[in-house]
Amino acid sequence: MFSESIFYSICTKGDYMYIADEKRYEKMIYNRCGMSGLKLPALSLGMWHNFGDTGVYANMEQMCFTAFDNGITHFDLANNYGPKSGSAEENFGKILKEHFLPYRDELIISTKAGYGMWDGPYGDWGSRKYLIASLDQSLKRLGLDYVDIFYHHRMDPETPLEETMGALEQIVRSGKALYVGLSNYDGPTLEKATAILSSMNVPFIINQNKYNIMERNVETNGLKDTSFRLGKGIICFSPLAQGMLTDRYLNGIPQDSRVRTDGRFLSEDKISNERLANIRRLNDIAGERGQSLAEMALAWLLHDKAITSVIIGASRPQQILDNIGALKNTDFTDEELAAIDAVYESAI
Ligand SMILES: NC(=O)c1ccc[n+]([C@@H]2O[C@H](COP(=O)([O-])OP(=O)(O)OC[C@H]3O[C@@H](n4cnc5c(N)ncnc54)[C@H](OP(=O)(O)O)[C@@H]3O)[C@@H](O)[C@H]2O)c1
Repeated sequence: MFSESIFYSICTKGDYMYIADEKRYEKMIYNRCGMSGLKLPALSLGMWHNFGDTGVYANMEQMCFTAFDNGITHFDLANNYGPKSGSAEENFGKILKEHFLPYRDELIISTKAGYGMWDGPYGDWGSRKYLIASLDQSLKRLGLDYVDIFYHHRMDPETPLEETMGALEQIVRSGKALYVGLSNYDGPTLEKATAILSSMNVPFIINQNKYNIMERNVETNGLKDTSFRLGKGIICFSPLAQGMLTDRYLNGIPQDSRVRTDGRFLSEDKISNERLANIRRLNDIAGERGQSLAEMALAWLLHDKAITSVIIGASRPQQILDNIGALKNTDFTDEELAAIDAVYESAI
């Protein structure tokens, strides 16, 4: 794809030349995304936190290297990831340019639009005007001609579904995205959207929704069953409940944890005594399986055949390495599943 000299000059713009681990594809499991031709790594890396302007660039680089060196080929973004909005795409765009362009065809890069991005009526929700302008802005920040997956980020109760889906169709036809996805949709709306997209032959392949041991909306709102029936993939976000399904908060709230560094989305009151008691019960079940709680939480999602991938967040490279450990055992006995369900049910 690139001559050696271009490769060298691209890669030496950073402090050193990154060369990906040759054994990376031996370390990861790849799952087919629904009934599409695309395979995704069982673990993907999300850039909602720690990739914005308040993050440390060298740490972002190292997290991307660690991920790719271990076969994580999928990086998930959105127009509004930061803070400030757009800065995660800018920072990842810089990492791409400095280190990853030679690997572009080995990467699945996704972005989204659907939440508030700029002032006025055209920078939010699901109009054709917003989605098309937003993806153009994202491509500029990323320094790319196309993304692999473009998502509508949330259901829009006011814009006709035909208009939003029509914008996704135009985006694919214009070559700015290879596939499209829907995020935060429920089962009935997914069913309607699928009918519209199928009638236009749009490669809609994936749903992105919050799903973890303690947050199971996708089971009650019909998303999981409908997605599986329609042959679409599911990629789960916040699989660790933003860090609560790890050992992070078992002994107090660390200064470097998300609660302290960015409490906008995970506030201290979420770490209640009642929740901690449930986390400890889950931690004990994980211990009996010979796993950390984080490993068990990820494995619990991946043992489900409806699930294509889980998007982990990370604040440091070691967390990515620890989480890949989940792949060693994604089998559960009926007793283990029942014990996990009992903790969930006691909390709802
Ligand atoms: N479509 C949507 O609407 C939507 C919404 C939210 C997220 N997402 C996507 O999903 C991605 C992941 O979401 P998330 O960040 O909430 O995921 P998560 O995996 O549930 O939480 C990630 C956080 O957990 C902690 N952590 C991770 N591994 C750990 C380990 N092994 N041990 C201890 N702590 C660990 C870290 O927090 P500390 O800072 O405490 O270290 C890390 O930042 C996002 O980046 C984004 O791409 C999409």
